[in-house]
Amino acid sequence: MSNKMWGGRFETGPDAIMEEINVSIGFDQRLYAQDIAGSKAHASMLAAKGIIDKADAEKIAAGLDTILSEIEGGQFTFQRALEDIHMNVESRLAQLIGASAGRLHTARSRNDQVATDFRLYVRDTLDTLDAQIRDLQKALTEKALHYSGTVMPGFTHLQTAQPVTFGHHLMAYVEMLGRDRGRLRDARARLNECPLGAAALAGTSFPIDRFATATALGFDRPTANSLDSVSDRDFVLETLAAASICAMHLSRFAEEIVIWTSPLVGLIKLSDRFTTGSSIMPQKRNPDAAELVRAKIGRIAGAFNGLLMVMKGLALAYAKDMQEDKEGAFDAFSTLSLMIAATAGMVRDMVPNEKKMKEAAGQGYSTATDLADWLVRVLGLPFREAHHVTGRIVGLASDREIPLHKLKLEEMQGVEPRITKEVFGVLSVSKSVASRVSYGGTAPKNVRAQAKRWLKQLAKE
Ligand code: ARG
Repeated sequence: MSNKMWGGRFETGPDAIMEEINVSIGFDQRLYAQDIAGSKAHASMLAAKGIIDKADAEKIAAGLDTILSEIEGGQFTFQRALEDIHMNVESRLAQLIGASAGRLHTARSRNDQVATDFRLYVRDTLDTLDAQIRDLQKALTEKALHYSGTVMPGFTHLQTAQPVTFGHHLMAYVEMLGRDRGRLRDARARLNECPLGAAALAGTSFPIDRFATATALGFDRPTANSLDSVSDRDFVLETLAAASICAMHLSRFAEEIVIWTSPLVGLIKLSDRFTTGSSIMPQKRNPDAAELVRAKIGRIAGAFNGLLMVMKGLALAYAKDMQEDKEGAFDAFSTLSLMIAATAGMVRDMVPNEKKMKEAAGQGYSTATDLADWLVRVLGLPFREAHHVTGRIVGLASDREIPLHKLKLEEMQGVEPRITKEVFGVLSVSKSVASRVSYGGTAPKNVRAQAKRWLKQLAKE
């Protein structure tokens, strides 16, 4: 059987392998709602411009509504022989309303149709992701406010560096996620132009109103060049790039959760709800959700790279290569969505071991910088000299395997005679964090202010 969509000059139907490589209905059926919305906007514009009869347009709209409810009710049979979502919908429309269905494709091609559908789909996805990331920011901020004064070790090189607060650490991710949302919003603003009416590649001789369809579909304006309209998938790439960066942030946080929950470290406890056990070792509590969040970035960055390779070197305008834009992107979007949800769940349930955090914060001479700063502030030493003096004092403590504040005043005075007992006021981890009041610093009062600012902001969005 030759294909009824273009059967005019074909004598036989496709080889089975041809169908196998060509078919996309298995994955592009996800675009059904966008496809139907695009067709309804197109048909009503065609009628408004007198290109098709009002009666035909009404039949088309009613038929499309029926198809929408058939698909959503699970009564629609998708057919591989009809290749993709566009032809499945149009063919069913013909069954439902007869010859009028054939008028829908006037002044349109599947090339501008699929570009429109996918932009609408990515736009919806961007809105969903934005709401989800906002929820994660809220979870992090609420936790941060609760633990704004909880001292934990801050690291560089994963070596104990200076004490920070748990709240401050969590708020770092709120900032990152804020920028992620900004990138996704930027992608949304740039993609929001409507390709419908570009037709196959050159535009159309029918007197269509592209501004009307653009407005009806919630786009800011029609795209300005018909070749560009059907040729580019940069809006998918940009979204995948922003999604990859967001996934990278989540992956880093997940790695920290894995480290913090290790019995060797024990800084936090995850809930049973976000932990798994072992079938052989009864004592185990494995952070599988965190490990999977850590790993799943591979799929998202992979989808970005995959599509980048599909698009590079493609001559204008449409080529079937571009059908490869969808599967990876669909997977990447649902993967990121799951990563965000799992991270929010872990955050809401996690409980820090405050005692252990504080102990760990004091290890490794983490207040050495506070001692050096004291020597500068109180004794007027140049910082480089203070650094040297502190190094010698740390050496003394380290030889005796005791923390700085356990050294005797006389021992410190052996290195720098002008040191007074007031120095002990800066050697505790709590004093250390409380003193970090510079803008953006870790002092609990800064963290509280930052968290409150964010909660107010998040409530407005
Ligand atoms: N299924 C196709 C895609 O996703 C639709 C466009 C087909 N256009 C064409 N000229 N074959 O790209």
